[in-house]
Amino acid sequence: MPALVLLGAQWGDEGKGKATDLLGGSVDYVVRYQGGNNAGHTVVVGDQKYALHLLPSGILSPDCTPVIGNGVVVDPSVLLSELSGLNERGIDTSKLLISGNAHIITPYNVTVDKVTERFLGKRKIGTTGRGIGPTYADKINRVGIRVQDLYDESILAQKVEAALDAKNQILTKLYNRRAIAADQVVEELLGYAEQIRPYVADTVLVLNQALEDNKVVLFEGGQGTLLDIDHGTYPFVTSSNPTAGGACTGAGVGPTKISRVIGILKAYTTRVGAGPFPTELFDEDGEALRRIGGERGVTTGRDRRCGWFDAVIARYATRVNGLTDFFLTKLDVLTGWEQIPVCVAYEIDGTRVEELPYSQTDFHHAKPVYEMLPGWSEDITKAKTFADLPKNAQDYVKALEELSGAPISAIGVGPGRDETIEINSFI
Ligand code: GDP
Ligand code: IMO
Ligand code: MG
Repeated sequence: MPALVLLGAQWGDEGKGKATDLLGGSVDYVVRYQGGNNAGHTVVVGDQKYALHLLPSGILSPDCTPVIGNGVVVDPSVLLSELSGLNERGIDTSKLLISGNAHIITPYNVTVDKVTERFLGKRKIGTTGRGIGPTYADKINRVGIRVQDLYDESILAQKVEAALDAKNQILTKLYNRRAIAADQVVEELLGYAEQIRPYVADTVLVLNQALEDNKVVLFEGGQGTLLDIDHGTYPFVTSSNPTAGGACTGAGVGPTKISRVIGILKAYTTRVGAGPFPTELFDEDGEALRRIGGERGVTTGRDRRCGWFDAVIARYATRVNGLTDFFLTKLDVLTGWEQIPVCVAYEIDGTRVEELPYSQTDFHHAKPVYEMLPGWSEDITKAKTFADLPKNAQDYVKALEELSGAPISAIGVGPGRDETIEINSFI
């Protein structure tokens, strides 16, 4: 009954797509359990590069069934264009399963996301503008539209009208925008219905039966631990639970079924959008990390904010997710620094603090306490085993492992599938 959760241990973009793809060949199902097309997961296979937003990264492995779970929010136009983009490149997507309980990102959710961000001005979250927050808000407010609603025209019309009632008041009176016509939205959504129908399934039943049959199921997180609505740097977060518990609610699988939780951890830190980031660099080191690491958003094309590795955050990720392993990515990007600072604790108003403070005010004041580790200059991109790494790179990995509280079971030394050092097998 092996069920693995693979999730981001920092602020997203840790390399989840690559890690999922790497395991995709040996798992039967890859399941997205939260988020939507705010994600941007890059997978490099040979000389081909794929940027996936909504589809699980397992879609690139022919024997694997990709699943969009009930906890995901689905923009139907994005779904269909992502599928046809892959089909044009010769990828068979016919195995995809989509939960009928997943919520739909409607055009008005995207509008509300954009206008509220504009309205917030300097206080904006820096969302991806894909309608994620407003769609989850509708879900919690019980005015959401679900995938299954596409197949009952009168229910769909009633629900869209109900959802737009209050929204049109806000759009016209508060934001000075035009009202959105319910019948146009219904017509657009119905236009997608038949194209999506072949994929819709009772994914909870399918996944639980698969686990009974001893199939291997991998739950692929979007975003990261510090972007979690409950455990992240609220309010600078996304509107779902990327943390391990989200896999259970977002896929309908009980916690007793999860056998392993793997945290994807970048060898330094990045963040996109607004919010606190203690180890952020504003100097040439930050610029160099961005350049060498190619740190530009896959979804919005924004430059990612870059900083040194933060062990306080990694320890926190181990705790809130119950991590059993880390997959350390992008170690190769650090090649060439004489010394590499690693944040081991924070100083908050003159006091040394070892763990992430629960208070937002304290976190905003946190200053990193650095330890300097010796760097390496040798090319490590061809390393196949831990022993192939230069001594200082080995020591860097060991130090991170010690500080972060879970074993590092794999190391990424390049973006390709084979540019990985496997230390402990995941399955
Ligand atoms: P995700 O959102 O967590 O899937 O990560 P992204 O795809 O947004 O960003 C990670 C980037 O790093 C992608 O461009 C990957 O191809 C790349 N990448 C992943 N692992 C490694 C690695 O070990 N070394 C290098 N140099 N690049 C990597
Ligand atoms: P992957 O899966 C990095 C950030 C946005 C913003 C905040 C809220 O590729 O790691 P949202 O549109 O979700 O309401 O925006 O969350 N964000 C991400 N940052 N990687 C992602 O996904 C992200 N998805 C959302 O930049 O700060
Ligand atoms: Mg990404």
